[in-house]
Amino acid sequence: GKKKTILDLQRMKDAGEKIAVLTAYDYPFARLMDDEGIDVILVGDSVGSVVSGYDNTLPVTMDEMVYHTRAVVRGVASAMVVADMPFLSYQVDLAEARRNAGRLIKEGGAQAVKLEGGTNMAETIRALVDIDIPVVGHIGLTPQSVHRMGGYKVQGRQEAQAEQLLADARAVEQAGACAIVLEAIPASLASRITRELSIPTIGIGAGPDCDGQVLVIHDILGLCEKYSPKFVKRYADAAGVIRGGIRDYIDEVKKGAFPTEEHSFK
Ligand code: KIV
Ligand code: NA
Repeated sequence: GKKKTILDLQRMKDAGEKIAVLTAYDYPFARLMDDEGIDVILVGDSVGSVVSGYDNTLPVTMDEMVYHTRAVVRGVASAMVVADMPFLSYQVDLAEARRNAGRLIKEGGAQAVKLEGGTNMAETIRALVDIDIPVVGHIGLTPQSVHRMGGYKVQGRQEAQAEQLLADARAVEQAGACAIVLEAIPASLASRITRELSIPTIGIGAGPDCDGQVLVIHDILGLCEKYSPKFVKRYADAAGVIRGGIRDYIDEVKKGAFPTEEHSFK
């Protein structure tokens, strides 16, 4: 079918229809989730953690994000594709932010970019929206702020912090963002933000009242055998399936059971 757009996301919020979002970083995963009817695919900078094996998302580069975005876009027919702006690609100045966001659209083929930050990033969001690049905001636990936060912790538990997050959400909407990710905040706060904003909220560890939900594909499939946060639900044991296939292959090669005539040329 036709690709979903920011208009579809807004329509879904207005109609009370939940928005299903997953991350993908390559063609096969993008194809499968697009085929199964995912609404939005996020090419997250979580690629740094789950694919590249870094401890956090900070080392991810623009070139890497462009590469993964292109691969995902080639696998998509219906979903909207959003690409993350990696650390230091939008924080230095507005000119760099415009150029880098533009690369994810022009070279990557994404329909929107996502960046982390609230009130502090309002001017940047506005600068991108002004050149017709749709922007998804991201507040709460923002992984690029890992050193400021002193680790990955639930945000907005204290009243003052909660008020700041509400102000951040409003600033992101005011700046022209088309949607906002709320990560690891109390469900009651996410519910309040979702009611107060006109744009869709996409929750991750933000309770059931957000307009949509997003999770990292490797986490929900059990492909990430490292630490997995409380908000992740495991829907499959892909690691088990992969290990089994690899073990059987090794075993058959060692025994001389593979290949047989069936997989050989006459
Ligand atoms: O990089 C990512 O995967 C994300 C989502 C989990 C929101 O930013
Ligand atoms: Na991200």
